[in-house]
Amino acid sequence: MCPISLMRIVPTDAVLGANVQGVDLRALDSDAFAAIHRAWLDYQVLLFTDQGLSDEDLVAFSRRFGDLDEAPVQETGQRFVEGHPEIYVVSNVVRDGMPIGSLGSGEAVWHTDMSYLPDPPKASVLYALEVPPCGGDTSFCSMYAAWDELPGRLRRRVEGLRVKHDGTYNSGGYTREGVTPTGDPRTSPGTFHPLVAVHPETGRRGLYLGRRRNAYIEGLSLEDSSALLDEIWAQATREPLTWRHRWRAGDLVLWDNRCTMHRRDAFDPATRRVMHRTQIK
Ligand code: OGA
Ligand code: MN
Repeated sequence: MCPISLMRIVPTDAVLGANVQGVDLRALDSDAFAAIHRAWLDYQVLLFTDQGLSDEDLVAFSRRFGDLDEAPVQETGQRFVEGHPEIYVVSNVVRDGMPIGSLGSGEAVWHTDMSYLPDPPKASVLYALEVPPCGGDTSFCSMYAAWDELPGRLRRRVEGLRVKHDGTYNSGGYTREGVTPTGDPRTSPGTFHPLVAVHPETGRRGLYLGRRRNAYIEGLSLEDSSALLDEIWAQATREPLTWRHRWRAGDLVLWDNRCTMHRRDAFDPATRRVMHRTQIK
């Protein structure tokens, strides 16, 4: 067991994120887990380096936070990790003509996971098995900071509004399994959520935006909805509200989908990147 005494939580110099040092996630005692849970609520995103996790270990650590959601269906319509329906593979690797995972090697635009569902996962856990020599960094932004720093005029404008989180496309721009794109955000599949949300565990307010593409603010004309969304998105994803992570194999990043968004840089498609993700209900 990893005693809590060896654990150090080192905040990044950004508005969110902390590095948790001195732990092996396969062997956490309950005090160490409680401290990690607290730090996750405080810092929104946690990084653990030098882990050597099997899929079973990844699932076991993730389960300590709650029940797991099944992975969304991959872009090929398949589930890839035999025996682990809760593991989502993020990878550009093609084996026997078939991608082993989702999101390819292009940019993944700013989003929070699975917000097109009525009850999206509260957290995601992403574990790096293979990483490219450069590119493929993942950035996170704080939706608490996005709300706190939103100009008063915009705050008053968005309070009480609901936004449709589109279910047509994933963050890599691929169409989700079984969906026919309509091109009209008012009629495309998705779920309305309040634009300003109170975090159920911290009580802090944050913006909840999901994805920009095909988003739609309830009750507005398409034009007004787009203009307002563009303005809010520009504020929410400003560089000072973000933290960027350059991956190494063995890194595990745990984030809170209720108060962060993330994006990924493109990388050279001739290089390999393999990540396994779980999502916590
Ligand atoms: C995800 C995701 C980006 C990345 O797993 O939810 O958006 O860096 N991944 O692979
Ligand atoms: Mn994601």
